[in-house]
Amino acid sequence: MAHVPLIALERLHKTYPAAGAQPTAAAVVALNDVSLRVAPGEIFGVIGRSGAGKSTLIRCVNLLERPDSGTVHVHGVDLTALTPQALQQQRQRIGMVFQHFNLLQSRTVAGNVRYPMELAGGRSPAEMDARVHELLALVGLADFHQRYPAQLSGGQKQRVGIARALANEPQLLLCDEATSALDPETTEQILSLLADICQRMHLTVLLITHEMHVIHTLCDRVAVMERGRIVEQGAVIDVFLQPQHPTTRGLLANAGFLLDEGEATQGGQPVLQLTAVGEAAQQPLLDLLRTQCGLRLNLLEGRITRIKGQPVARLRAEVLGADIPLADLPAAVARLGGHAQWLGAAQGAQA
Ligand SMILES: Nc1ncnc2c1ncn2[C@@H]1O[C@H](COP(=O)(O)OP(=O)(O)O)[C@@H](O)[C@H]1O
Ligand SMILES: [Mg+2]
Repeated sequence: MAHVPLIALERLHKTYPAAGAQPTAAAVVALNDVSLRVAPGEIFGVIGRSGAGKSTLIRCVNLLERPDSGTVHVHGVDLTALTPQALQQQRQRIGMVFQHFNLLQSRTVAGNVRYPMELAGGRSPAEMDARVHELLALVGLADFHQRYPAQLSGGQKQRVGIARALANEPQLLLCDEATSALDPETTEQILSLLADICQRMHLTVLLITHEMHVIHTLCDRVAVMERGRIVEQGAVIDVFLQPQHPTTRGLLANAGFLLDEGEATQGGQPVLQLTAVGEAAQQPLLDLLRTQCGLRLNLLEGRITRIKGQPVARLRAEVLGADIPLADLPAAVARLGGHAQWLGAAQGAQA
């Protein structure tokens, strides 16, 4: 990697003692040899099912949770080796957004956003007020300074949470299921706010989620967690198009993505899967294949997803016939910038 990573987690282990008094109860291994690097400016997502260890992992990055072993470097500093005071200072460079907002109920919206600046010190009251104004305008709450958290919707509460996380101008933002308590429409709004803010402020983000949708909307890279381990990681587009681990495949299938294994044949006709990314997905691929190769298709299913705004199209179709040998079709699709693959038993049909 060209850059020094902004976050470097090396071989983290974390075990929680067994709950309750019974000596037979097993301890919970929440992190099992987890290493992760996040480059400056990158939006890195960690996805996994409930209980996979995601919250434990993200809380280790600012040592809200201390790993039993392993090292945590942020901005090149080993946080595990710091005095409490030095750790406090480093934490001010890390913003955090929580699933349940964690707002102070007794403080107004403005008071909540001001709070981390008061803790950090170093700003005059006028400077803090100016920063509060700036941040609340940024998150679309310019008219809400004097409201209390109880008077806000979930989406508004999370906007306050985001403004508060940014108060001390962190370069790194940690998001623990930031949209999981919100309805789908509000989720969209908060995700686009986060995308906008990250781009404008050149933030590095580590986020955790159980929703695939969050990953492909926001993230550059993704790691998949299962039972305290990272089982797969890579660029979002690669993981989406070629998931390797059964857990990843399961998460993608649940989110409605078409995986490589599909219906083999329909009524004895070979089934072709076409995948097109970016520009290739924006041209009339099917029309070009019809005019250039005489390809006649019966569409079975398809899906267009946007990965960070870039279209990724995948569709499956029965091949009814073509003017070129069927075995030459994948190469013809490749010449148009797409990717074609015979599915299941249809592989035999291409010969
Ligand atoms: N403070 C804690 N005490 C005991 N067990 C915990 C604690 N926090 C998390 N766990 C357990 O550790 C595992 C991982 O939890 P968590 O990191 O919250 O997963 P996720 O965020 O992926 O749902 C789970 O089995 C959970 O029950
Ligand atoms: Mg969690």
